Amino acid sequence: MDAKKYYNPHGEDILNEKIYGGSPTGFVDFNRSKYQWDSNIYDLMNANTWFPSEVNTSTEKKNFDQLTDNEQSIYKMTFAQLSFNDSAQEEYLSDFRRLTNNRLVKSVLSLQIMQEVNHSKSYAVLLDACGNSDEVFNLYKYDAALNRKNQKIADQFASYIEGGSADKMLLSAMASVNLEGIYFLLGFAYIYVLGDKVPGARDMIKFIARDELNTHLPLFANIFKTIQKENKIQTSTIDSAQQMIEDAVAIELEYGKYLLGQFPVMGITEALMEQTVYNYANDRLKKISLDPIFPESPTTYLQQLVTKHLQMNDVRSNFFESNVSNYAKSSIDLNDF
Ligand SMILES: [Fe+2]
Ligand SMILES: [Fe+2]
Repeated sequence: MDAKKYYNPHGEDILNEKIYGGSPTGFVDFNRSKYQWDSNIYDLMNANTWFPSEVNTSTEKKNFDQLTDNEQSIYKMTFAQLSFNDSAQEEYLSDFRRLTNNRLVKSVLSLQIMQEVNHSKSYAVLLDACGNSDEVFNLYKYDAALNRKNQKIADQFASYIEGGSADKMLLSAMASVNLEGIYFLLGFAYIYVLGDKVPGARDMIKFIARDELNTHLPLFANIFKTIQKENKIQTSTIDSAQQMIEDAVAIELEYGKYLLGQFPVMGITEALMEQTVYNYANDRLKKISLDPIFPESPTTYLQQLVTKHLQMNDVRSNFFESNVSNYAKSSIDLNDF
């Protein structure tokens, strides 16, 4: 390995480091940010730091045992899929980080990697308390639809991760916009629909959803927009990004409709699922400054559930009393590129 990767005294100044391409000097200086959104997101991610042990899982097994058979299946199939997302994201981020030139953006990605590992740990803690950890983590071996969704997500991650051009890096970033902004959402909604029946799972998902939606999604939306702005990205590449989110919508709805067909418990319809995923996809497109392309509906019940639980005040009042200044940072501008 070339030592310049670590120290390159004749490299470019930190304020000139682009996300794609270039030769950084090798210093991480949070006082000099080319973008500002990177250090804002870093601060918010830090302020949101949490540990699985903060969630009370002592009654999870008793609560789980009182669910109906279909509710238990929904619970297990949801965590089987969400836990894959975080495992895959950790590995993808480590690879995507290597494509990145700007050292501050790399630092934010390092913190994100740690948070994805924390999410993996939280699933293990929750499912251990529930008494079905081995069963849930092995479901991909027995359920073809779960296996198919995981495989398609992995395929999107793998498609452009070799890099080699700004266009490919942009499309690789798109895979992460899809992961943070699409592939988690019906799973989050299912657990919130179960809600008070499984408060341990609900509260764990509140913390995970806050990380994914309040910081990881804005991070990758900004990375996408910045790569696009800093390089002459071709129209055909933007078309490919649009195709990737259309694929993501299809992947999310295929698994959602499969679960609904197998375990119809909760007054969720296919139409409600479609409206929800379409609305989220349009929002993600707007976040990366592309035009919405899906039919738009009024905010759905499932979206309202997700938004309500993002307002974390009812998780643990003492926690927020002691972190009130940190929590207030949620309002900082993450989109100031
Ligand atoms: Fe995560
Ligand atoms: Fe994430």
